[in-house]
Amino acid sequence: MTDLTDNLDALHTTELGAERIKRNLGLQVDDVVLWCKETIRQADIIIRNGKNWYAYRKGVAITINARSNTLITAHPIDAKVRVMRESEYPCLREFLYQAVFIPEGAKPPPRSIVNDPEIFLYIKDFGTGPGDIGVVAEQDRQTIGAAWTRIIPAYGHVDSETPELAVSILPAFRGYGIGTKLMNKLFAVLRENGYARTSLSVQKGNPAVRFYQRLGYRVIDDKPNSAGHEDCIMIKDLG
Ligand SMILES: CC(C)(COP(=O)(O)OP(=O)(O)OC[C@H]1O[C@@H](n2cnc3c(N)ncnc32)[C@H](O)[C@@H]1OP(=O)(O)O)[C@@H](O)C(=O)NCCC(=O)NCCS
Repeated sequence: MTDLTDNLDALHTTELGAERIKRNLGLQVDDVVLWCKETIRQADIIIRNGKNWYAYRKGVAITINARSNTLITAHPIDAKVRVMRESEYPCLREFLYQAVFIPEGAKPPPRSIVNDPEIFLYIKDFGTGPGDIGVVAEQDRQTIGAAWTRIIPAYGHVDSETPELAVSILPAFRGYGIGTKLMNKLFAVLRENGYARTSLSVQKGNPAVRFYQRLGYRVIDDKPNSAGHEDCIMIKDLG
């Protein structure tokens, strides 16, 4: 529960606001405020940022002025992708945790899993080594996804010329094309930096394998990792 969900009865909008929301979402409902209340009640995630609340549900973003409980707008999520700033490097810890594969029905591991030296390698002193390149996805001024590469002796290392990738999108924002957009940005930045290919390691049961194949990665090796899971090593030529 948040202040927002506690005060849903106070939610309102202007005539123009209702029209804007209907137009943005192609909504065919009479009562836009009621529709937004229901959507907010079932939100995947609600975030407070500055003067607004942002509620996200099934790929729709609703913006609410927190002081007046006014519905400002709603539209399909439209994350922007850009190069990661140095000040954002600390957020890699969370995105590394989010990149850990959790098989369906399994209990999420503790956040401290990223301290495991073999995992921590993916973020340790990021920004100081060759191939340390990062991009982020930003929605309503919040960082909701990150993709980064490093040349490190980690699971997906193939050679000293090939940066290895890690990527994750926060759970509420998965499956809406943001990962694809983010990866294409990363490929462009890798090319600009003179890299000819990039590698990764992924557990065989992870649906991300399909995501990588669609982006042009191919499997070059299969091997158990130190935790005993079957991993695929994949490579993409940056052309
Ligand atoms: C993999 C991931 C970065 C893709 O980003 P996204 O924005 O969800 O991807 P897109 O919407 O552009 O593409 C959808 C594809 O992503 C993959 N995907 C979607 N949800 C996923 C999830 N919860 N876990 C893993 N992969 C997922 C699927 O391949 C999906 O395609 P499909 O529907 O045909 O199976 C993102 O889903 C994620 O963070 N997953 C969890 C972390 C992870 O597995 N990271 C990779 C570790 S090697």
